[in-house]
Amino acid sequence: MTRRFYIETVGCQMNVLDSELVAAALLAAGYEPVDSPRQADTILFNTCSVRQHAEDKIYSALGRLKDVKQLGPGKVIGVLGCMAQKDQEQIFKRAPHVDLVVGPGQLAQLPALLERIAAGRGPQIEVSLDRKAGKRSEIQESFARFDPQRAAAARPARCQAMVRIMLGCDKFCTYCIVPSVRGPEQSRPAEEIEAEVRQLVDQGCLEVTLLGQTVNSYQTVSGGRTVRLSDLLARLDAVAGLRRLKFVTNYPRHMTGDLLDAVRDLKSVSPYLHVPAQSGSDRVLARMKRGYTAGQYRQMHDEIRRIVPHAAVTSDFIVGFCGETEDDFQATVRLVQDLRFKNSFIFKYSARPGTKAAALLADDVPEEVKRRRNNELLAIQNAISHEDSLPLIGRTLEILVEGPSKTSLKRAEEGPVVQLTGRDPCDRIVVFDGSRELVGTIVAVEITEANPFTLFGRAP
Ligand code: 5AD
Ligand code: SF4
Repeated sequence: MTRRFYIETVGCQMNVLDSELVAAALLAAGYEPVDSPRQADTILFNTCSVRQHAEDKIYSALGRLKDVKQLGPGKVIGVLGCMAQKDQEQIFKRAPHVDLVVGPGQLAQLPALLERIAAGRGPQIEVSLDRKAGKRSEIQESFARFDPQRAAAARPARCQAMVRIMLGCDKFCTYCIVPSVRGPEQSRPAEEIEAEVRQLVDQGCLEVTLLGQTVNSYQTVSGGRTVRLSDLLARLDAVAGLRRLKFVTNYPRHMTGDLLDAVRDLKSVSPYLHVPAQSGSDRVLARMKRGYTAGQYRQMHDEIRRIVPHAAVTSDFIVGFCGETEDDFQATVRLVQDLRFKNSFIFKYSARPGTKAAALLADDVPEEVKRRRNNELLAIQNAISHEDSLPLIGRTLEILVEGPSKTSLKRAEEGPVVQLTGRDPCDRIVVFDGSRELVGTIVAVEITEANPFTLFGRAP
C-alpha cells in the first residue's frame, strides 16, 4: 500500500528547504505527496520557534487534528523542526495524539522513525543535545547534517532552489532562540556545496539562494586554504548555466570588503543584500548583544553604497524589545528614514523561554505600544518602498518567471496567456501578462506601474 504524506511548513527559508529535503526522502522511500491532511496517513508539521505566535498556531493546528486521528487510527502525526527541538517530550503531553517529534538536527532519521511507528513500536522522539550538554564537538555532531541528494520533483519551482551552506548560529543575540534549536555554527565544505549546485543546475535550476543564519560568516578550509563566502561565490559563479546567486541572511559585522567586491564583480551574484539591523538605538542593540552600534551599521551601509551603489538592501527590525523607550524607537525610525531600505521585515518582540532576554530582562513594553510601533515603522517603510519603486517605471528588468500569479490562480485562468509573477535580481516582485511557456525562464519586462508591494510590467 502506498503511504501518503502531507507536510505543512512555517517559518524561515531554512525550514522551507528542510521540508523539501524531507519530501525528497519520503518520495525515495515510496511515499506519495497529497495536498491536505485529511487525505494523508502521515501528517507532518515543520515548525518554527522564533516567536510565540508561530508556536501557538502549530499547537492549535495539532489540536484540530485530534478527530482526524479518531477517523483513522493508523494515521501518524509528526512535529519536526525548531519547536520539536525546543519543546521535546512536552509536545506529547500537550498533544497526546502526536506520534513523532524530530528536531532539525535529526531529520535524516525520519523515514526510519516512521518505519518504527508502522511496526507498532509506539511514539518516537529524536532531538539533538542541548547547547550546554557536553563538549562542543559532541553537540556539533548531534546536529547532524541533512543535505541529501536533491530531487526536482520535491521542489515547487524547478528553476529555483536553496542550498544550505551553514548550520546553526553562535551569535546568541539575547532575544533569539535559534542558537539553541539549530545548534552550533558549522560551515559545509565548499566541494560539497559546489557538487550540490552543479546537480541543481543539471536539474534545470537557474537561481540558487545560499542559506545560513549568518551566511557571511561562512568559513571553511579547502586544500589548506581558507574559503570565505566571497571565495565560495567565485567558485559557484563559474558553474555554467547558473544565472543567479543570492545569499541570506547577513550579519552586519561580517559584511567585509571582499564580499562586497564579489557582489559587484561576479556576473551571477545578485545585488541583493539582506542585512538585519534589528534596532537603530545603541542602548537596545547593546541589550540585544548584536555586537555593533547604530553608527557602525550606518558605516557598513555606506560601504555597501560605495562599492555596490545599485544594491537593494533589506533589513529586519524588532520593536518593543525589553526596555525600549520612545526615544529608542525614534532612533530606529531615523535609521529607516535615513538608509531607505528596499524593504524591512518588522516584528514585535516575543519573549522566548530559553533565551538570555527572557531570563534576565523584563518584557516591559505593553502589547499595544508594540503594535503601534510596529504599524508606525511599517507605514514609514512601505512609503519608502513605494517611492523608491516609482523611478523603475519605464525601465526594463530581467525577470525570472516563477509561475502564474495568485490572481491568475484565484481566477483559475485558462489558455496559453495568463498573469505571471517573477522576480528581478534585487528580489522585486513583478507581475505581467505572458505565455505559460515563459515559466522557468528569464525575460526582459518593461515596468509600467508600481504599487507599494508589486511592480507591474509588459513582456515584449
Ligand atoms: N521576537 C521577535 N522577533 C524575533 N526575531 C528573532 N527572534 C525574535 C523574537 N524573540 C526576528 C529577528 C530576526 C528574524 C528572523 O526574526 O528580526 O532577524
Ligand atoms: Fe538569532 Fe542573532 Fe543568530 Fe540571527 S545572528 S540567528 S538573530 S542569534
